[in-house]
Amino acid sequence: MIYSTTIGTANDWYRSLTAPARDLALCRELAFGLCRWYFALSSLLASRLQKPLRARDRDIEIILLLGLYQLLIMKTGDHAAVNETVNLARAQQKPWARGLINAVLRTVIREGTTLDEDLKAQAYPDWIVRRIRRDWNDQARQLLIRGNDRPPMTLRVDTRQIAVDEVIARLAVDGIEAVRHRRVPSAIELPSPCEIGRLAGFEQGLLSVQDAAAQIAADLLACEPGARVLDACAAPGGKAIHLLQRYDAIQLAALDASETRLERLQQNLARIGKTAQLLVGDAAKPDGWFSGGSYDAILADVPCSASGVMRRHPDIKLLRRESDIMPLLALQRDILDGLWRLLKPGGKMLYCTCSIFKEENEVQIGKFLQRHGDCVELPLTESDWGQARHNGRQILTGSDNMDGFYYALLSKPSGL
Ligand SMILES: C[S@@+](CC[C@H](N)C(=O)[O-])C[C@H]1O[C@@H](n2cnc3c(N)ncnc32)[C@H](O)[C@@H]1O
Repeated sequence: MIYSTTIGTANDWYRSLTAPARDLALCRELAFGLCRWYFALSSLLASRLQKPLRARDRDIEIILLLGLYQLLIMKTGDHAAVNETVNLARAQQKPWARGLINAVLRTVIREGTTLDEDLKAQAYPDWIVRRIRRDWNDQARQLLIRGNDRPPMTLRVDTRQIAVDEVIARLAVDGIEAVRHRRVPSAIELPSPCEIGRLAGFEQGLLSVQDAAAQIAADLLACEPGARVLDACAAPGGKAIHLLQRYDAIQLAALDASETRLERLQQNLARIGKTAQLLVGDAAKPDGWFSGGSYDAILADVPCSASGVMRRHPDIKLLRRESDIMPLLALQRDILDGLWRLLKPGGKMLYCTCSIFKEENEVQIGKFLQRHGDCVELPLTESDWGQARHNGRQILTGSDNMDGFYYALLSKPSGL
C-alpha cells in the first residue's frame, strides 16, 4: 500500500523539536531551505570541488551546502556564514575539512556567485526536470523556477459563518495583514506567515489553513441537501471539513487507508464540531469496507506524486523516487475503478491530485473514460482558474500563487 508518506515528513520532524523559538525558526529555515535548493547547490558545489567528497564525508558535504545556502539564499554576512560553517565542521571532528570549507566558501564570495535562473531551474532531481520538460514544453522552465518560491500562507474562511472582509478586518486589528485571493472567493493570503495560535477564529473553525487550489474541490462537488457523500482518501481532512462546512445537511463518509491519519481527521472534526462516518480501508477494494447504499457524490483526492506541492513540502524533491510513479498510477486507476461502482446513477465523482504530471491527471482520466462507457466528463469550462486540458483542468504550481493541482468531474448519467 502506498501512502503519500513524503507529505509533511519535514513538517512532522520540525514539530517534534524543542528549543528556543529563535533557534527553531533558524533550524526550520536551514532544513526546509536546504531541501528546496539541494540539487542546485549540489551542482554548484560539485563545480567548485577538485574531486568529489567520499561517501563517508557526507556530513562535510551537507555542512558545505548549508554554508552555500546561508551565503547565496539567506544572504547571511560573509564573515558569519564562513565562521559558522567552519565551526560546524569542528564539531564533526574532521579538522582537515576546515581548510576545504574555508576555500570553497571564500571562492564563492570572491567570484560574486549568485543563484541564477539556470541554477534555479535545476533545483530538482533529474527525473523530475525531465518529466516537467516532457509534459509542459515551453511552460516548463518558468514552472521549474516558480516551483522554488516560498508558498503563501493561505487560509479558508468558513463563509457561512463569517464574511471574508470581516475576517480581514479582524486580523488587521491583531496586526496581521491579509488579502483576498483573486480567484477563489473563500481564500485569503497572509503575505507574512504567522503562528496558527495567533489567528482569532481558528479554534472555532471560522478559519482553516488550506491552499486556494485545494479549496476549489468542495465548490466543484456541489452536494445537494441530504446527499450521501464519500470522501474516499480523506485524511487529514482538509476537504472533508470544507464539505461539511459548505453543505451542512450531507451525510459524509470519510475513508482512508491510514488509521493514524484518520485520527488527525477526527481531531479536525472535533475542532469544528461536526461528525462524519470514519472508515479505514482501501478505496480500490470496497469489498473490505463498503456495507451497501451507493453514493450521490464521491471525492477521490487520490495519493499522488505530490509534484504540485514541492514548494510547500520541498523534502519531496529528496524523498520521492521515479520508481514510485508506476505503482501510484496503478493505485489511482484501481481507486477510480473501485469507486465508480459505488456511485449512484445520476451521481458525480470528483477526481483530484496535487500533481503536475500529466500521467496522473489528464492521461489517467482519458484512460478511465475509455474503460467506462457509462461515464460522462462534465466540463469545467466556466472556471477561471488553471488551464483547460483535453480532460479536466490543471493548475500549474504558482499560477495565481496556488499549489499545482488537477481536477476532473465525472458523472454517471441516470438514463444509461
Ligand atoms: C492527497 S492525500 C488526501 C488529502 C485529503 N483529501 C485532505 O484534503 O486533507 C491522500 C490520502 O490517501 C490515503 N490513501 C492512500 N492509499 C489509499 C487507498 N488505497 N485507499 C484509501 N486511501 C488511501 C493516504 O493515507 C492519504 O491520506
